[in-house]
Amino acid sequence: MSVNVKQLAAEKAVEYVQDGMKVGLGTGSTAYWAIRRLGERVSEGLNITAVATSRASEEQARELGIPLVAFGDIDSLDLTIDGADELDSKLQLIKGGGGALLREKIVAGNSSRMIVVADESKAVHTLGKFPLPVEIVPFAWEWTVAEIAKLGCKPELRRSGEELYRTDNGNYIADCRFEVIDSAPELALALQGITGVVEHGLFIGIADMAILGKSDGSIEIIEGGKEE
Ligand code: A5P
Repeated sequence: MSVNVKQLAAEKAVEYVQDGMKVGLGTGSTAYWAIRRLGERVSEGLNITAVATSRASEEQARELGIPLVAFGDIDSLDLTIDGADELDSKLQLIKGGGGALLREKIVAGNSSRMIVVADESKAVHTLGKFPLPVEIVPFAWEWTVAEIAKLGCKPELRRSGEELYRTDNGNYIADCRFEVIDSAPELALALQGITGVVEHGLFIGIADMAILGKSDGSIEIIEGGKEE
């Protein structure tokens, strides 16, 4: 029987959740398994409150009976568990493949701890093969996309069927193909300097640990992202 590597990583991460914690719920097909396991633990008596990073995760958590609060009702979170599209050895991440990067960054950035859960294929030497998602405002998107392209990538506006994709916040996503990102901090600064960019999918100095599920049934743990 083949191993579900996403489930493996996600369920290991849920072992770090303790009674009384405020927990950030990530988004995507790996975070899905973490939320599912958390739901089981809640039904067994675990007492937590959670903040969801997307409507999809909110719905899943609600169905499982995980107590949810709005981010505005709390000061900070203890632990966020979320997936990633790429991660390097410094625990710099590319996120946003599922379109939830803005809420994910607000939630993870305000958590004492962030654990990334992923299958081993997400670990890369250098970020950039996965097109970097950048959330932009719809107004003057053509100008914003042209400014982003000047940073050395090929941006493509994400679509959802015939329509342009809209995030939970009503914005567009430009998926930016860099191939190689030499310095994630420098690129992050440059993107932040473009008016019209709401947020980008580079998570730097946010993750504390990554748990990678491997096809042989083992897990690999990478730690120390915030110290870099
Ligand atoms: C959602 O916006 C993303 O940041 C996801 O966390 C990321 O795309 C990883 O998703 P999967 O676990 O589905 O690969």
